[in-house]
Amino acid sequence: MNPSLFFLIFAILIHVPTYLSADDAQYVTCGELLQCANIPNISYPFWVGEGSRPESCGYPGFQLTNCQGDAPIITMEGQQFRVLAMDNGTQSLTVARQDMWNQTCPTYLYNTTLDYNLFSYAPNQQNITMNYDCLENQTQIPYRFDCNANGTASISYFTSGTTSLSSITNTVCNKSVTVPVNQTSGAVLTSSSATVAEMEAALAAGFELQWAANNTRCTQCSGSGGRCGYNTATLSFACYCSDQPYALTCNSTSSVRPCGRVPSEMDSSDLAVLLDLKILLLMYQNHEINSICKVVLTANWLNVAPYLHFSL
Ligand SMILES: *[C@@H]1O[C@H](CO)[C@@H](O)[C@H](O)[C@H]1NC(C)=O
Ligand SMILES: *[C@@H]1O[C@H](CO)[C@@H](O)[C@H](O)[C@H]1NC(C)=O
Ligand SMILES: *[C@@H]1O[C@H](CO)[C@@H](O)[C@H](O)[C@H]1NC(C)=O
Ligand SMILES: *[C@@H]1O[C@H](CO)[C@@H](O)[C@H](O)[C@H]1NC(C)=O
Ligand SMILES: *[C@@H]1O[C@H](CO)[C@@H](O)[C@H](O)[C@H]1NC(C)=O
Ligand SMILES: *[C@@H]1O[C@H](CO)[C@@H](O)[C@H](O)[C@H]1NC(C)=O
Ligand SMILES: *[C@@H]1O[C@H](CO)[C@@H](O)[C@H](O)[C@H]1NC(C)=O
Ligand SMILES: *[C@@H]1O[C@H](CO)[C@@H](O)[C@H](O)[C@H]1NC(C)=O
Ligand SMILES: *[C@@H]1O[C@H](CO)[C@@H](O)[C@H](O)[C@H]1NC(C)=O
Ligand SMILES: *[C@@H]1O[C@H](CO)[C@@H](O)[C@H](O)[C@H]1NC(C)=O
Ligand SMILES: *[C@@H]1O[C@H](CO)[C@@H](O)[C@H](O)[C@H]1NC(C)=O
Repeated sequence: MNPSLFFLIFAILIHVPTYLSADDAQYVTCGELLQCANIPNISYPFWVGEGSRPESCGYPGFQLTNCQGDAPIITMEGQQFRVLAMDNGTQSLTVARQDMWNQTCPTYLYNTTLDYNLFSYAPNQQNITMNYDCLENQTQIPYRFDCNANGTASISYFTSGTTSLSSITNTVCNKSVTVPVNQTSGAVLTSSSATVAEMEAALAAGFELQWAANNTRCTQCSGSGGRCGYNTATLSFACYCSDQPYALTCNSTSSVRPCGRVPSEMDSSDLAVLLDLKILLLMYQNHEINSICKVVLTANWLNVAPYLHFSL
């Protein structure tokens, strides 16, 4: 056997299987679980960008930032929340307001707002109300805390659930903010012996949300062996499968295949045919191989080009 021909066949043996088994790039990328800050194993719909888990592996509105910090941050309606926990199985997320994480007296006061297209409150959550800038300093009643924002001390009171401010004090407060907490935390704060430390703990424990990011489609896509993502060109859900992206689920009966049959459907006779370079070249020249496949084949052929003139 001509040694060059031997090298040629050797090279084909090395290179042909690599393209036959090459998985779709998005499928591979989106299968990589992300660790962001202290949260491991993050998958769809969350994404980071900047090279690590791109938007195409997530869904808009679920970008996480501050992955080098002490907790991932998710921004909703311009407000920042710390991600304390996430449960992929129940599609739920525990978050705490970043501006009230380690303080009860933020400089800018705003009510908690969600993007209700993407998130809803989980069951068993409730609001507490933080009342700022109140007229009287009634030191004997519970629920009072001092707020020193903007360089001036202001008397403040928190109330939990349906408890009204007027039922605990006759003071009038100029500003108020509602913050969700879980009901366990909220119940503690309705006690007449509730302390400021308990209120701070409730804010730090956060509240639970449920997310909606085409959840049903993702379940169906996953069920068909795909990985969920987002088509940033068509602005819609994408299902990445080992062969190529699909709109909804991996479709094994689709005729749109990059290189004819999928690798799992090939047998030794296919490989034998592929190894016959003259037939392969003929198919290539006769446009019997589609364009995506040609790119792959060309890339592989360039690698073996130094040997080709011996056999053709
Ligand atoms: C993350 O995933 C890996 C592999 O799937 C698993 O071994 C590990 O226990 C997971 N960690 C957590 C905290 O779920
Ligand atoms: C709260 O924590 C942030 C960083 O996590 C820090 O920048 C800020 O100064 C802290 N505020 C207070 C009142 O401790
Ligand atoms: C501090 O000042 C800002 C800007 O004037 C104001 O919006 C905010 O409500 C003030 N904060 C408090 C706690 O009063
Ligand atoms: C928060 O909402 C309450 C009513 O729900 C309102 O009275 C209050 O002014 C709002 N606070 C801010 C800072 O917008
Ligand atoms: C808290 O109050 C707001 C209105 O200020 C309401 O939209 C929201 O549903 C309440 N949150 C919970 C968990 O009940
Ligand atoms: C609340 O607002 C009123 C009118 O805007 C103001 O006169 C009053 O001083 C404010 N209360 C406090 C405690 O600053
Ligand atoms: C309210 O009264 C308590 C006890 O007298 C005092 O420590 C606190 O500084 C007062 N707060 C304000 C804002 O005046
Ligand atoms: C509610 O928050 C408390 C901390 O205040 C936490 O211990 C508890 O697990 C939370 N409950 C639920 C149901 O999330
Ligand atoms: C889920 O997909 C449908 C169809 O593409 C879209 O209309 C809908 O807005 C999506 N859901 C969310 C939460 O974006
Ligand atoms: C999260 O759930 C989706 C859809 O069910 C699944 O495809 C994915 O593998 C899950 N991610 C993790 C980290 O378990
Ligand atoms: C596969 O694709 C064909 C043609 O697009 C479609 O009619 C069929 O419903 C798809 N099957 C699955 C399981 O998605």
